[in-house]
Amino acid sequence: MPTLDARLEAVLGLIRSDVHVDVGSDHAGLPTELVRRGHVRRAIIVELNSGPLEVARQAVIRAGLGDRIDVRAGDGLAPVSPDEVQSASLTGMGTRTILGILNRAGERMPPVLVVQPNDSPAVLRTWARAAGYHLTAEHLAPGFWIYPVLRFERLTGSDPAYAGLPLTAALRYGPHLLRAGGDLLRRQVWDDVVRLTPLAAPGRPAQRDLETAQTALDWCSESTQ
Ligand SMILES: C[S@@+](CC[C@H](N)C(=O)[O-])C[C@H]1O[C@@H](n2cnc3c(N)ncnc32)[C@H](O)[C@@H]1O
Repeated sequence: MPTLDARLEAVLGLIRSDVHVDVGSDHAGLPTELVRRGHVRRAIIVELNSGPLEVARQAVIRAGLGDRIDVRAGDGLAPVSPDEVQSASLTGMGTRTILGILNRAGERMPPVLVVQPNDSPAVLRTWARAAGYHLTAEHLAPGFWIYPVLRFERLTGSDPAYAGLPLTAALRYGPHLLRAGGDLLRRQVWDDVVRLTPLAAPGRPAQRDLETAQTALDWCSESTQ
């Protein structure tokens, strides 16, 4: 039985829907486990590149799930019809790639998105606030790096997750993560403080980033008192 790493387990835990699309699936580990464990009834895999597309097709056949997982070639959400899926996942990609896919999606955007970028998710949090999505959950998963996992849901009004928090620090480090103040976040913020301290000087971007990290560190300390 294939197992998922902590990163994809964290993603899987945030998905429950009827039909789900996993964009950029490659090994198909996430969608096969979503179907097997009953988190979704059906799944669609979208792959841009022919190599990973074939890997995904073979994995679905090996799992005996060809009747419940549809493998499609294409870019992002383009091969999915409007209203065909209730949720989408985009994992193991750079923030720019994810943002490009979301910006091209138009009316194909589902109401729930779970993303796991390989770099800072700050721009995704900023994008979500402008695009009418609330950040309903976020985790940090241990692995080769510390992987951020975020769940967004299309909802009206301003996102309550940010209420009462310093906005720049919340966008950089995550409002739910700041409130929780866990060990992985603390490590991440502390690494930033150590990296930025020798670079910071008045007027430099590093100075602003260091102040953001110090604000986040204060919040982490407060949340455990
Ligand atoms: C590093 S793999 C991640 C695999 C898997 N999602 C994971 O998290 O382990 C990224 C995959 O995204 C695919 N990809 C990149 N851009 C894409 C796009 N615009 N549309 C669909 N797939 C894309 C690549 O072909 C590659 O297979």
